[in-house]
Amino acid sequence: MKVPRHIAIIMDGNGRWARRQDMPRIMGHYRGAEVAEDITKACIDLGVEYLTLFAFSTENWNRPKEEVRLLFDLLRKYLTDKREELLELGVRLKFIGRRDRIGRDLRYLMEELERETSVSYRITVTLAVDYGGRDDILRAVNKLVRLKFDHVDESTFSHFLDLGDIPDPDLLIRTAGEKRISNFLLWNLAYTELYFTDLCWPEFTRDELLRAVEDFSGRKRKFGRVLDE
Ligand code: FPP
Repeated sequence: MKVPRHIAIIMDGNGRWARRQDMPRIMGHYRGAEVAEDITKACIDLGVEYLTLFAFSTENWNRPKEEVRLLFDLLRKYLTDKREELLELGVRLKFIGRRDRIGRDLRYLMEELERETSVSYRITVTLAVDYGGRDDILRAVNKLVRLKFDHVDESTFSHFLDLGDIPDPDLLIRTAGEKRISNFLLWNLAYTELYFTDLCWPEFTRDELLRAVEDFSGRKRKFGRVLDE
């Protein structure tokens, strides 16, 4: 089986799943965080080198204030409680997205974890927090303008995006039946294979991940070329 080197995931449907169980929406996010942990372990077992998870978008600020607060509380708690486990598992943690609208304590915690986990690792897990693809592109353009570039090629431009030198995702998975990119890695997804499932993220399992990887494995990637028959 061909295993993707880089998997990106839009973890959708937490709220719907929780509502179906007569639970508050935040319980869906709690369960979603557990699933993210399990899928990270499954990716390590499969030999996936990069996993990128969409945790909070630039548009998610428009959610009810209480849900936004609880989501950030969850992220803070998770990063604090799982610190040792991340190191033991060999997870290099990275964050992409804006940092200027996130509380200072959480920002420090994120930066500390990025530093601590960067030494010895088996997988790079990138959490997209306050991330938007258009915002990513504009921040890169503005950096280039500040540095007075008058010409850039694709590889220089990629380098200035949040994922930097991480290779483009090979496979994008989106749960909960929606078939949209929703302002996720707009530049980096140019040639990514897309996989959609109706399952909500809290229902996503290792077996489902395997199904997605098997599906990916059977696809012919042409990158705009003609393949010999
Ligand atoms: C989409 O479900 C999910 C989110 C906006 C947040 C995803 C966050 C997590 C899974 C927690 C991440 C935390 C860590 C530590 C990785 P939705 O609320 O849009 O669901 P709905 O479409 O059914 O309302």
